[in-house]
Amino acid sequence: MTATTTRTSRDARTSREPLLQVRDLSVTFRRSGEEPFHAVSGVSFDVQPGQTVGLVGESGCGKSVTSLAIMGLLPKRGNTVTGEAVFEGTDLLKLSPKQMRDRRGRDVAMIFQDPLSSLNPVVPIGRQVTEVMERHQGLSRKEAEPKARELLDKVGIPDPSRRLKEYPHQLSGGMRQRALIAMALACAPRLLIADEPTTALDVTIQAQILTLLKDLVQDSDTALIMITHDLGVVAGLCDEVNVLYGGRIVERADRHDLFARPRHPYTHGLLASIPRLDSARGERLNPVPGSVADNLPWDHACAFAPRCSNAVEACRTTQPELERIEGGVETPRLLRCHNPISEEA
Ligand SMILES: Nc1ncnc2c1ncn2[C@@H]1O[C@H](COP(=O)(O)OP(=O)(O)O)[C@@H](O)[C@H]1O
Ligand code: SF4
Ligand SMILES: [Mg+2]
Repeated sequence: MTATTTRTSRDARTSREPLLQVRDLSVTFRRSGEEPFHAVSGVSFDVQPGQTVGLVGESGCGKSVTSLAIMGLLPKRGNTVTGEAVFEGTDLLKLSPKQMRDRRGRDVAMIFQDPLSSLNPVVPIGRQVTEVMERHQGLSRKEAEPKARELLDKVGIPDPSRRLKEYPHQLSGGMRQRALIAMALACAPRLLIADEPTTALDVTIQAQILTLLKDLVQDSDTALIMITHDLGVVAGLCDEVNVLYGGRIVERADRHDLFARPRHPYTHGLLASIPRLDSARGERLNPVPGSVADNLPWDHACAFAPRCSNAVEACRTTQPELERIEGGVETPRLLRCHNPISEEA
């Protein structure tokens, strides 16, 4: 990150109101005959204009459910959502489905992992982009078309005039994800939520898409929530990182602090599993041992205890609270752990 961009995000954080304030968000799924399942519990975080906030953790830790709850996209039945998601003074969780539909696309847009499932296979790419502009900006098709061409160009799709007429299956995976980003940007949303946007892409294309997102956020002051299971992805992109485990935030820190001094044993394990350029080919990475299914209930333990090499007795009897810890000048550091990794480690 350059000095200028660091200053921009610092200013954004100190001098402006948050664009989105998520407060105590919880999502519980209920199925008849089964115990209620707490997919997300007490999650709180802020997003400032122009800031990129990461939600990171292994599959199943509640990243998508958090974002779907904020976007009003969870299934209508079988779940309870509590807490607040205040976007510019309006609690999105209290909006009617129609009010939320109007907001989606206009103020808040989302990019998913699999662009094919988000694009309509029988409608040309260009038409899908112009439709968003017609619906949310009241433009005519004629007015929207040159803007769609500009957008495709902006997201790095070569020969946009030709591509506009093509169908999703005619584009490569990377180009489809670019088209989806163009659709998400068609109404200049203030907040973009990207849920594992590069997971299905090969590494080179992944790097290109991440650079594109970074540039777009910097140029337009859009706020970005970046959801990923891969701490490597947040390395070059996020200002602030929230690490989730078992539906709860277990650590929050400025990206630099998190990478330099991870304090939570789970974060430490995730960092150790990032492939390094200097690691020998075929060398086994060091993933967090065990699986997310080996959880203890948060209400009287640390859910991570069965997998944690730092676990002490209290970890199996008492829930650790998310507490402010030393360090973190710009982003207060938060940690939920009875026996953290020492700062010197
Ligand atoms: N509609 C649903 N009904 C029941 N359980 C769900 C539903 N959607 C997600 N879950 C469960 O909630 C947990 C969190 O899921 P999710 O947020 O998708 O994880 P991820 O972090 O991989 O995005 C998982 O255990 C998942 O099985
Ligand atoms: S609370 Fe205990 S089990 Fe949980 S991460 Fe910290 S040391 Fe490990
Ligand atoms: Mg997910």
